[in-house]
Amino acid sequence: MTLPAPIRWRDGRLWLLDQRRLPDEMFYQEQHDARAVAHAIRDLNVRGAPAIGVAAAYAMAMAWRHGDDLETAADELRRARPTAVNLSWAVDRMQNAANQGRDLVEEAEAIHNEDRTMCEAIGRHGASLIKPRSSLLTHCNAGALAVSHLGTATAPMYVAHDAGVPFHVYVDETRPVLQGSRLTSWELSRAGIDHTLICDNAAAHLMAGGDVDLVIVGADRVTANGDTVNKIGTRALAIIAQYHGVPFYVACPSPTFDPTTATGTDVAIEERPAGEVTDGIPTVAGVKVRNPAFDVTPAELVTAYVTERGVLEDIGDA
Ligand code: MRU
Repeated sequence: MTLPAPIRWRDGRLWLLDQRRLPDEMFYQEQHDARAVAHAIRDLNVRGAPAIGVAAAYAMAMAWRHGDDLETAADELRRARPTAVNLSWAVDRMQNAANQGRDLVEEAEAIHNEDRTMCEAIGRHGASLIKPRSSLLTHCNAGALAVSHLGTATAPMYVAHDAGVPFHVYVDETRPVLQGSRLTSWELSRAGIDHTLICDNAAAHLMAGGDVDLVIVGADRVTANGDTVNKIGTRALAIIAQYHGVPFYVACPSPTFDPTTATGTDVAIEERPAGEVTDGIPTVAGVKVRNPAFDVTPAELVTAYVTERGVLEDIGDA
């Protein structure tokens, strides 16, 4: 199974798959410095919590090799997007490595490889949730495009599919940036995984009809109490899943856990440009728009967290 890699690092050079162009075109844009990577993160050319952490790590490594000011690079990268903790986690780790006089290229490669290993473990643990002929639902793209390999929410799907387990996935289109219809559906198609695209607002109807056995999503940050910050619409999905008795799983690696932040309400939720909501959509000229990119799912709505350590019901085990 050949999955798309969002980040390529070859001979000290960095290329990012431009995810704004998918699914029409697969184009890798070379990045020459940390500022360019910060722009690519902000503009969603590279996106998904673990992937922006890995991209930022390589950006710091490039800044170090070029002799650029590391504080400036770190600030620009951290400010690119506020919500996913993986970004600041990776930048902090690179700064600590620099302070200890370590090789930053090796450190970035280690972050990239560890992410790959964690996603593979998430896939192995999470595959146990996918019974033959079960029907899953996912939101946004917590797929191979969002990480180093396999994805988080999609990792169990790829592992189960490889093992020959028959199952089906409903893919939320994920307004307004359409990570579901442009990215997750594209990934699953390439892997030959049976799936159906739905409007975000169709999920409750499908659950009411008994068409969904479990929901699995990714996360941008899980706070100390288990609250999960993820793509806008996740909270609504978790609420309707509980109402219909559908288990709701959050798949994420350990760098997504943020024990220093008490609850989801303490997390800065990114507000993105209005044009993401209105461009190409019939609207009234000058209409007021709000475009929060993420929301908070309370811990009590999460059945379990699928991590590299196993399927954990209790955040204390993460
Ligand atoms: O705005 P995006 O596309 O970066 O949002 C991505 C998500 O919300 C993902 O679910 C999350 O980052 C987990 S990716 C493994």
